[in-house]
Amino acid sequence: MFVLRRAVEADIESIYQVDKAVFTIPWLVESIRDDIEDKDNRIYYVIDVDDQVIAYAGAWLVADEGQITNIAVLPNYRRQGYGAILTRKLIKECFAQGMQEIFLEVRVSNQAAQTLYRRLGFTVKGLRKQYYSKPTEDAYIMSLVKEKE
Ligand SMILES: CC(C)(COP(=O)(O)OP(=O)(O)OC[C@H]1O[C@@H](n2cnc3c(N)ncnc32)[C@H](O)[C@@H]1OP(=O)(O)O)[C@@H](O)C(=O)NCCC(=O)NCCS
Repeated sequence: MFVLRRAVEADIESIYQVDKAVFTIPWLVESIRDDIEDKDNRIYYVIDVDDQVIAYAGAWLVADEGQITNIAVLPNYRRQGYGAILTRKLIKECFAQGMQEIFLEVRVSNQAAQTLYRRLGFTVKGLRKQYYSKPTEDAYIMSLVKEKE
């Protein structure tokens, strides 16, 4: 059993621990705090399994564009659908809050994430040269446009 819920201030440390376990350069605790406290312009969700945060995802809302900033699932919990659940939730929330297009960056070598995003409708829009460090790598810019109603 899992619980998908909006992140709250009490989750900051758990989110940082997930980030640290997953990325070579984790976000600063202060940055995570800023994001979670700014409820008007940020959307953060976590997934709990056995009352522990095992995954999180966040997005920024800027004018009419969403920007997915991060999605991370602890290694032991991957390929169980949690990444897709989180991404779908962000997409739904971004569009519900008036965003017309959602953007994200992804390492060109990150096949797992690209496959996930493609399956949810994202397409590659461009390339940012040397966007990432540790290791240095280009990023694909991917986006998803809101369907006309
Ligand atoms: C990318 C990530 C979030 C995916 O999370 P996940 O919970 O394992 O993803 P899901 O189980 O929801 O997978 C959904 C679909 O994505 C694709 N996918 C996920 N992982 C994959 C992999 N390792 N290889 C190929 N396809 C993969 C598959 O199509 C999968 O569906 P399937 O399992 O039915 O084949 C996870 O691998 C992760 O945290 N990676 C490290 C952090 C990261 O790269 N974040 C994205 C930064 S842009």
